[in-house]
Amino acid sequence: MNFKESMEAKIQTIENILNQYLPKEEGFQKIVMEAMNYSVLAGGKRIRPMLMMETYRLFGGKGKVIEPFMAAMEMIHTYSLVHDDLPAMDNDEYRRGRKTTHIVYGHAMGILAGDALLNYAFETALQAFEIENNDGIPKALMILAKKAGIYGMIGGQVVDVCAVGESLDRERLDFIYKLKTGALIEASMMIGAILAGATEEEVAKVEKAAADIGLAFQIQDDILDVTSTTEILGKPVFSDEKNNKTTYVTFEGLETAKTHVAKISKAAIETIKSFQGENEFLIELVKYLIHREK
Ligand code: IPE
Ligand code: IPE
Ligand code: MG
Ligand code: MG
Ligand code: MG
Repeated sequence: MNFKESMEAKIQTIENILNQYLPKEEGFQKIVMEAMNYSVLAGGKRIRPMLMMETYRLFGGKGKVIEPFMAAMEMIHTYSLVHDDLPAMDNDEYRRGRKTTHIVYGHAMGILAGDALLNYAFETALQAFEIENNDGIPKALMILAKKAGIYGMIGGQVVDVCAVGESLDRERLDFIYKLKTGALIEASMMIGAILAGATEEEVAKVEKAAADIGLAFQIQDDILDVTSTTEILGKPVFSDEKNNKTTYVTFEGLETAKTHVAKISKAAIETIKSFQGENEFLIELVKYLIHREK
């Protein structure tokens, strides 16, 4: 199998896991489950669960305990997108090639489906205790909680929203990127390492590599916002300009931003190479993320 075929097979595996953990659409509150499933099953790149699974494998993990965490991470990421698209935030009407959740289900249900996905993520991750006895589960839960919250993704979104229309300095721009996008990618890879029994020192190295991947990933997202098309991206282009956002592209210029993506990704690859395990696919994945078109 070449890289593209392996990637497609891995996406299929992830989607089977997601299907297994998503809620049934039933009861008087059925509509919120429909909105949750609509948002998650719309088909994203599944980068976070993939990075989690690959890091778990890199450190020798073989069990199923990783699966509820993979599903939980994609639920948290999806909720962050559902809320990010709301009129009060980026006000975008397309995501993953379809109408955004609040356009289809209304604003109230967009908010509630986001809340529901966040809570359901923890209901899901907690099921790990029923799968195997693994000393890493409490630590993995703590990381999931912290990196999604005010010291992680939400913290980054807060500063991102506050910064609209302001001229940002580099320090605050870096803070936004590290948190709004970096944090969930850090958590994904750290949880993979922890559940596979990696040492504290190894987990710290994984966190650093993941921070680089997250930064490169968000800079590439900003680049695609001005260079791609809505058809390819599945979400509106020029969303940042519409919202008066300072991005890496407006701050550094397009060419420098591209150079930074390549340089930062290279650093991440070097760190991944320093680990002993099977890392070929992970390295290819990081390279793909730099050159991705959506
Ligand atoms: C979009 O994330 C938001 C960012 C942090 C850039 P993805 O680019 O991973 O979105 P999906 O999951 O593939 O739709
Ligand atoms: C989003 O950043 C990061 C999140 C935590 C959702 P963006 O606002 O650039 O993400 P897109 O471009 O809408 O996917
Ligand atoms: Mg945003
Ligand atoms: Mg947005
Ligand atoms: Mg963007």
